[in-house]
Amino acid sequence: MKEIIIYDSLTGNTEKLAKEIKKEYPKVTLEKVNSNMIENIPESDIYYIGTPIIKGMCTNKIKELLEKLENKKIFLFVTAGFGGSEEYFDRLKERIIGVIPKSNEILGTFFCQGKMTDQVKDRYIELIKENPNDKNLKVSLENFEQAKTHPDKIDIENLIKEIKKIEK
Ligand SMILES: Cc1cc2nc3c(=O)[nH]c(=O)nc-3n(C[C@H](O)[C@H](O)[C@H](O)COP(=O)(O)O)c2cc1C
Repeated sequence: MKEIIIYDSLTGNTEKLAKEIKKEYPKVTLEKVNSNMIENIPESDIYYIGTPIIKGMCTNKIKELLEKLENKKIFLFVTAGFGGSEEYFDRLKERIIGVIPKSNEILGTFFCQGKMTDQVKDRYIELIKENPNDKNLKVSLENFEQAKTHPDKIDIENLIKEIKKIEK
C-alpha cells in the first residue's frame, strides 16, 4: 500500500509533525507541497496532509491541493498559533474539510498549537501599550506564551495515536 505525507510549513512546526510521521512509518513518502505536485498529484492509497493555519485557513497551496483530490483517503494534521479550545479547532476543521470534495474519505484529523514568531509577541506588546485595557490582547499574549513549546512530545504522541486508529 502506498502512503504519502504532503505538507506545507512556513516556520517548521507542521514540518516537524510531518517528519515525526515519517520517523514512525519510514516507508511513507514525505514531500513538501509545491506547484508541480498540485498539477500532477502523486497517486497514493492514503494522503497525510499537513498545514499550518494562516489567516484562519490552511495555506493556499494546501487548499489548491485539497480541492483537486477525488476519491482519496485523507488524514489531516494541522498546527495553529491559537488554541486551547476544542471549539476553535472544530471551526478550523469544518472550514478546511469544507473545501475537500465529498468523494474523498476523511480518515481522521489532528490539531495542535504551534509556536509563533517573536514578531507576533512584539506586536501584541505594542498594541497593549496603545490599548492597556484591552482584555483580548492580554489573552492573545497569554496564548502566545502557551503556544511557545508546541508542538511538543505529547502532541507528537497524540498525533501518532490518531494515525494508529486508522483502519487500513
Ligand atoms: C502569516 C501568519 C498568519 C497566521 N495566522 C494564524 C491564524 O489565523 N490563526 C492561528 O491560530 N494561527 C495563525 N498563525 C500561527 C501559525 O498557524 C502557527 O504558528 C503554526 O504552527 C505555523 O506552522 P508552520 O511552522 O508549519 O508554518 C499564523 C502564522 C503566520 C506566520
